[in-house]
Order: sequence, then structure tokens, then C-alpha cells
Amino acid sequence: MKKILIIGSGAMGAAFSIPLIDNSHKVTLTEPYNLKLLKILSLKKFHPALKINLPKKLVIKKFTSDILSIKWDLIVIAVSSIGIDSIGEYLKNFKKTTPILVLTKGLKLDKNKIITMSEQLKKSNKKLNISVLKGPCLAKELSRKVKSYTVVANKNIKIAKNIGNIISTNFYRTEYSNDVKGVEFSSAIKNIYSMIIGSGQGNNTSSALFRKSVEEMEYLIKFFKGKKETVYGLAGIGDLYVSAVGGRNSKMGEYLGKGFTFKQAKKKFMREDTIEGADLAFEIAPYVFKKISNKKVPLMIALLKAIIKNNKLKINY
Ligand SMILES: NC(=O)c1ccc[n+]([C@@H]2O[C@H](COP(=O)([O-])OP(=O)(O)OC[C@H]3O[C@@H](n4cnc5c(N)ncnc54)[C@H](O)[C@@H]3O)[C@@H](O)[C@H]2O)c1
Repeated sequence: MKKILIIGSGAMGAAFSIPLIDNSHKVTLTEPYNLKLLKILSLKKFHPALKINLPKKLVIKKFTSDILSIKWDLIVIAVSSIGIDSIGEYLKNFKKTTPILVLTKGLKLDKNKIITMSEQLKKSNKKLNISVLKGPCLAKELSRKVKSYTVVANKNIKIAKNIGNIISTNFYRTEYSNDVKGVEFSSAIKNIYSMIIGSGQGNNTSSALFRKSVEEMEYLIKFFKGKKETVYGLAGIGDLYVSAVGGRNSKMGEYLGKGFTFKQAKKKFMREDTIEGADLAFEIAPYVFKKISNKKVPLMIALLKAIIKNNKLKINY
């Protein structure tokens, strides 16, 4: 039995507690930001986004810096990308070698380069023992024990495998990778490509856009110094598939494909939804426009222009 801390009790943080509890670990789910959610979770043990009752054995608490002084066997970070900076602040003076597992998907523009979530955390403390976990995972399905697959990445594959042993169950299977950059970049940019695929006029168009997206993802992963084969793994086409067939990003893509601008579609159809691909577009567009040739990634550039400039999406393919 291991003692595991989860930071972030949104859909994914809470869903991730299910395989851990199944493996008889002692799990504490904490919330650093959303006090309304914390109140509901603490009072009812019901998760409003997952629409399930959480396990009785799951401990639910507000996240505070004191919690980090407890000896944990694994710390899981499951906040959205916007919250990574604040978690980095808490971990600034963290001296332990406790494995930290980052579930958050996203990229940040840092001065003149694009960095991953784990790189951003390492900026606050170089010594953190960070692994990342990505892949196709609808939190609702994981929370209902629908068989799901994930990839744990660390340059030291032994550390990744040790984490895999803690989290794997018969319904949550783990694969491993030492290509941390490739896994993080793939899992982030698939949100942009799922919008592009969603914009197809029909399945025929979307399939061709899927093929072209994979080609561009390969180029980008190599550009950002990951391994191109990672694009063919769970964090790449695995995650791209699940986002393209049924996620908020592909839904936004569908509206863009129908001729709405991003702002019109957001206001009219998706006012309350977070569109992670759009947030990412705002983050990386200045870099991509400057450093990456339109000839290499025409779909990505067309989508970024549509989001950033609020133009109609024009895909010339
Ligand atoms: N690795 C995987 O298998 C996997 C699967 C699904 C989602 N995800 C990723 O996990 C992350 C969370 O997804 P989710 O579906 O749980 O989202 P969610 O919106 O349900 O939850 C977001 C969490 O982040 C916290 N948060 C938001 N803003 C914050 C801030 N400024 N400071 C601190 N905390 C803040 C919220 O309070 C909440 O705990 C996303 O990056 C998502 O892409 C990963």
C-alpha cells in the first residue's frame, strides 16, 4: 500500500483516484483552487463533472503547503495548465525525491521558446523527480473503469515502470516511454489537430485531415526534439483519436468548419466550455508564426490564424 497525494480534484484528478483506490493505496485528493468544488466533494463525496460517487476510502482535502511536508510515495499533479505555475511555487523548496507524476497537458511560451508542463515545473525547482503521464483518457470512462491505456514517460525508464506498477490495474494499462518531450508535445498539440479534424465537412474530409495532421505532428515533434515514433503512440495518435471523435476541441472545430468564427462559436454554442486547443493556440501562436514555416505545417497555421485573428477557418488542402 502506497500513500498517494493528488493535487487537483477536477475530472481527471478524481478519476485517477479510482485505479489507485482499486490497488488498495491510501489516496488523498486535494483541491488548490476551486473552493466551490471542494465543498461539494467534501460534503457529498459526489463528483459533479464525473457524475459518480467517489470511493468512501478516498480522503478529500483542501490543498495547502503543509500537505507537502507529509511523506508521500507518489505526488500526482492534475490541475489545468493554467494552474501549473502556482503548483510550481508550492514545490519551490521541496527537497524530497518523491516521484511526481504530471497529468496536465499543455505547453507554455517562455521568453523565446515553448516549454512543456514538466519543464515549467522544473523552472521552479530543478531537483524535482518528475515523470509525465499522458494518453487517450476520457476521465468519465476511467472513473467507470472502462478499460483505458496510458503512457508514463521518464528519461529513466525504471522510474516510469515503478510508477506503472503502482497505478496499473486490469482496467488501467500502462505503457512506457523515455521520450518525455515527444510525449508532452504530442499530448498537447493533439488538441489543435482534433479541432482541425473536427472541421471536416464529413468523415471523408476528416479522414484526410487526420492523415495530414499526423504528418504535421511528426514534423513538429521532431522540430521540438522529441522522437517521431512517439506520434504513433498513445500520447500521439491514440489521444488524437479520442479527442477527434468526441471532445470539446473537435466540436469547436466543427463550428469553425461550418463558417463560424471562434468568438461566434464560443458565445453561441460553447460559452461555458474550456477549449484547451484554443487556449494552447493563444499560447503558442506567436512562436509558431515566427519560427515554423507555413509550408511544413499549413493546417496548424490555418487553425492558429482562425483562432488568434478570429478569422473564418481557411484550410487550403
Ligand atoms: N494525462 C491524462 O491521461 C489526462 C486525461 C484527461 C485530462 N488530462 C489533463 O488534466 C488536466 C486537468 O483536466 P480536467 O479534465 O481534470 O480539468 P478540470 O477543469 O475538471 O479540472 C481542473 C483542475 O485544475 C484546477 N485549477 C484550475 N485553474 C487553476 C489555477 N489557476 N491554479 C490551481 N489550480 C487550478 C481546478 O481547480 C481543478 O482542480 C488538463 O490539463 C487535461 O488536459 C490528462
